Amino acid sequence: MSGTDFERARAEIARRRTFAIISHPDAGKTTLTEKLLLYGGAIHLAGSVKQRGSGRQTTSDWMELERQRGISVSTSVLQFDYQGRRLNLLDTPGHNDFSEDTYRTLAAADCAVMLIDSVKGVEPQTIKLFRVCRLRGIPIVTVINKMDRNGREPLDLLDEIERVLEIPCQPQNWPIGSGASFQGVYDRVQRQLLRFERAQGGGARPAPMQLAEVDVPELRTTLGAGAHARLLEELALLDGASPPWDREQFLAGKLTPVFFASAMTNFGVEPLLQAFVELAPGPRPRQTSRGLLAPDAPAFSAFVFKIQANMDPRHRDRIAFARICSGVYRREMPVLHARTGKTLALSKSFQFMAQERVQVEEAFSGDVMGLWDPGLLRIGDSLCEGKGHEFEGIPRFSPEHFVRVREADPMKRKQLKKGLDQLAEEGAVQLFFDRWRLEREPLLGAVGVLQFEVTQYRLEHEYGAAAHFEKLPYQHARWIEGEVTLDRFERPGSSTCVLDVEGRPLVLFESDWALRRAQEEHPTVKFIAAVQPGRSSRAAGRTAG
Ligand code: G4P
Repeated sequence: MSGTDFERARAEIARRRTFAIISHPDAGKTTLTEKLLLYGGAIHLAGSVKQRGSGRQTTSDWMELERQRGISVSTSVLQFDYQGRRLNLLDTPGHNDFSEDTYRTLAAADCAVMLIDSVKGVEPQTIKLFRVCRLRGIPIVTVINKMDRNGREPLDLLDEIERVLEIPCQPQNWPIGSGASFQGVYDRVQRQLLRFERAQGGGARPAPMQLAEVDVPELRTTLGAGAHARLLEELALLDGASPPWDREQFLAGKLTPVFFASAMTNFGVEPLLQAFVELAPGPRPRQTSRGLLAPDAPAFSAFVFKIQANMDPRHRDRIAFARICSGVYRREMPVLHARTGKTLALSKSFQFMAQERVQVEEAFSGDVMGLWDPGLLRIGDSLCEGKGHEFEGIPRFSPEHFVRVREADPMKRKQLKKGLDQLAEEGAVQLFFDRWRLEREPLLGAVGVLQFEVTQYRLEHEYGAAAHFEKLPYQHARWIEGEVTLDRFERPGSSTCVLDVEGRPLVLFESDWALRRAQEEHPTVKFIAAVQPGRSSRAAGRTAG
């Protein structure tokens, strides 16, 4: 790379902001995504991401099943420019059952927007996803949505976030009323009032904004004496009680800036976006087998965080989504596939805007691209220019639902095996074998039951192999490490032991109680809820039998 090329690459990398939105279903993620794209100029009329009513579907719907069910199960990457920054929004599936996909997507993000419903507050999925961000040290920007509804007291919501998620909040703006009496927000950073006015046409176009100083006397008249007095009181309280803004703490995931908004009516979306591009960090350094890698290191490298087969039924192909972590990608460039040591020419690579595929000629650290994959790539794989390194793996989370697979047609045994192997590699489900019969009648585990439905549908439609899934009573799974006889876990009505695709033992428990009892009975054994795939572990079972 020449000096000028290098400088240009550094500038391109520095302007990337790669993030994901995390939330409990129904908090308004699709709505917010749509509005961010609207303000980002990527779409012109809100409503094209998810059409409301009967024809409800999203433009990131790829699979026929998604269309039938009206849910989005695929992760897509939406790219748009705003104020000189290039934003890569990783669109994570909103449905509860696809949270594993969301976990993996977070590995590719540098920042997350945590969206909370002002009526419901912190919900179970918010907690789960927040914990993943915390584990990865991902900075979080909090947005409290639906301020146009009669929500909970803002102080109460902040208190809940601080108590349940154990992260101090730093409100960047403060709401004046809510629901029917919602009048807008006071921007504590810019010291401005943003008045709430419902936009014409159902809030599908940018809402008008009026700005005023908070201490001007007219404000008392505008807001009403009561609301004005309350605002002044609450602002004084916040000035005294909320922690000072500390960028380092935010970047370390230890402090979250909070914005109040109403995505549906567009209120607060533009100020959020303006603040977000300033707050959000650029591409972060990544941990590799050769130490910490700077995002502007000249050699290209990327890791695969998602594989999606048969995205386009017309092409029957398989796309691996890779996040670039250093350098520049150029079409046809030879790269080392670190796991196999093979050199690949990455000639077919795409960026996606919903259903449209665009061939990528050049992409920079921070970007995500879809690579056409003949079946070589796996989740967690590293692709590098020059000397190879491996990125820190993407953890595999323990499933909570289990089925036994029974072939519907013995003539299709090969197809079934191929389908199961590929779908497991893709990470759609996890494949397990019992310790004796191995290949016959394997078990599948998933974080959510809908994944089984998708798997069954795809086995039949993509691999021509119908299968029966028999539900099993297990609720928890733990990989185990330590000296123990695996037979100890064979307890009908309580637990059983299986092996994962890498031969690591995993105990399935029928209840919380069964898990707790096993932990108490085997204090020296480690019961692990998330493992790194492909890494050898000092697995239990040396005395297995
Ligand atoms: P999700 O992707 O997080 O699951 O949420 P989504 O955007 O689909 O929003 C869930 C519901 O919440 C939708 O209503 C949506 O219109 C509504 N919503 C989103 N943001 C706001 C907001 O700021 N204020 C209010 N009042 N509602 C909001 P729905 O009834 O499920 O769909 P629809 O009938 O509106 O299409």
